[in-house]
Amino acid sequence: MEVTVTVNGERVTRDVEPRLLLVHFLRETLGLTGTHWGCDTSNCGACVVQVDGRPVKSCTMLAVMCDGHEVTTVESLEVDGRLDPIQMGFHELHALQCGFCTPGMLMTTRALLDENPNPTDQEIRTAISGAICRCTGYKNIVGAVRWAADYETAGRQES
Ligand code: FES
Ligand code: FES
Repeated sequence: MEVTVTVNGERVTRDVEPRLLLVHFLRETLGLTGTHWGCDTSNCGACVVQVDGRPVKSCTMLAVMCDGHEVTTVESLEVDGRLDPIQMGFHELHALQCGFCTPGMLMTTRALLDENPNPTDQEIRTAISGAICRCTGYKNIVGAVRWAADYETAGRQES
């Protein structure tokens, strides 16, 4: 089946198997390996991307379901060498160790801040409740999202 998707702002058309999962479409068909494939059972959240701005586990969606939609992956966050504030927050607060969960955490929390620029710690915890991190204990991840929220708030006040 032919599928046309806008991925990170670029329109792409590919002929794919109807059963191809979005995560495999991104990683294998398009070579965007920043999106990780973990459990394949909708538990770990490592595969989260945004579809039309909303976080989605890409192992739960078929590529053909994205026909005519916009998909955003972790590769889109850094622009011309400039990190997204959510990436800066993870760096500043040391919110990763092995990094396997990180792409999904970044895309989930980027979507959170786009919808709710000043979330409470509980709202951050709720947003990432569908994602599993085996390394950090979550405390630094919550801190990183808080850091990014404060950074963006300060930027808005200056401008
Ligand atoms: S690979 Fe999709 S939730 Fe784990
Ligand atoms: S940093 Fe290792 S799973 Fe989260």
